[in-house]
Amino acid sequence: MADKDKNNQGAEDTGHEWDGIRELKNDPPRWWMILFKLTPVWIAGYFLLYPSIPFVGGSNSKGLLGWTSLGEYNKGRQEIDSIRAPFEKKIAAMTAKEILNDPEMANYAVASIKQTFGDICAKCHGSGGQGGHNFPILADDDWLYGGTIEKIQETVTEGRGGIMPSFKGRFTPEEQKDLMQFLDDAQHGKTFEPGRKVFMGETKAAAECPTCHGENAKGNYDVGSANLTDAICRFDCTREGLEHTLLHGVNDDGDPMTRKATMPAWRSKLTDVQIKKLAVRVFLFGGGQKG
Ligand code: HEC
Ligand code: HEC
Repeated sequence: MADKDKNNQGAEDTGHEWDGIRELKNDPPRWWMILFKLTPVWIAGYFLLYPSIPFVGGSNSKGLLGWTSLGEYNKGRQEIDSIRAPFEKKIAAMTAKEILNDPEMANYAVASIKQTFGDICAKCHGSGGQGGHNFPILADDDWLYGGTIEKIQETVTEGRGGIMPSFKGRFTPEEQKDLMQFLDDAQHGKTFEPGRKVFMGETKAAAECPTCHGENAKGNYDVGSANLTDAICRFDCTREGLEHTLLHGVNDDGDPMTRKATMPAWRSKLTDVQIKKLAVRVFLFGGGQKG
């Protein structure tokens, strides 16, 4: 039975009790009731001022303020564009190297291209240029095509695709074994003489490795041939990994097992200014070479 007693401070007791806690019929606080009663007024005001009522056919009431989310977005964009305009104008007239040598402009270039890098470069090279499986690291100082600002800009503009021929069937088992030993040792600063002969083309296979990798096996930026002596591998530094590259090549159309390595050209998809900024972004990941 519901009852009233002093301890309830006048509130009716519902008679419900759980673990010694009784449920009373108190009104919510006054301030809360006032707010509650004002809510419909707030709603009506909102309905009048803002687009709210949907009509059949997809349109809606416009609201007295004429506000739209798209309008707000465009206004924000215009504000950003007007802040950026003087920088954009300046950057358009500068070379990538000049941008690099001007800390304020370099900062601006990096900040304003971050999103583009994230949208189109990061999926292969990682958001911080840390590289990915079979995609080169851009944040170190090991370069296939060179790390001066001009070379980086050229890479991004024209694209790249290293060609390493497939050498399957070229070597006798002996030559191949020696060559693999040479490649293994070269990574650790040692020279395995019989293998060096194979590399230099002095055996029957007449391999033309130095044409692209150089006589010192340190690679050549002009063809993007990897440095074979630095223990940094484009693909896989294990014996099997190196052997796979040797036997099937890179981008060798005639070999179905060839490794694929194509850096797309961005000339027709990005503006000059965007490419300059990207080159600065890549350079400043940390591995850029002062030319
Ligand atoms: C579809 C994947 C892909 C995308 C997207 C991509 N790249 Fe590459 N990038 C590569 C590959 C693969 C290579 C290595 C090419 C080779 O081995 O010959 C490369 C090489 C490079 C190099 C040369 C590295 C060196 O060691 O010389 C730079 C610089 C570079 N990319 C920058 C960029 C930038 C900046 C973007 C965005 C505009 C970008 N890449 C987008 C795949 C990609
Ligand atoms: C026509 C030029 C050319 C010739 C000839 C050539 N290479 Fe290459 N090689 C390349 C290029 C370019 C790359 C890098 C491909 C890439 O990453 O895009 C490469 C990559 C490699 C790699 C992988 C390196 C890594 O970092 O993963 C090895 C190993 C290699 N070459 C060994 C050889 C050997 C051994 C010979 C001779 C039997 C040879 N190459 C002949 C152009 C050549």
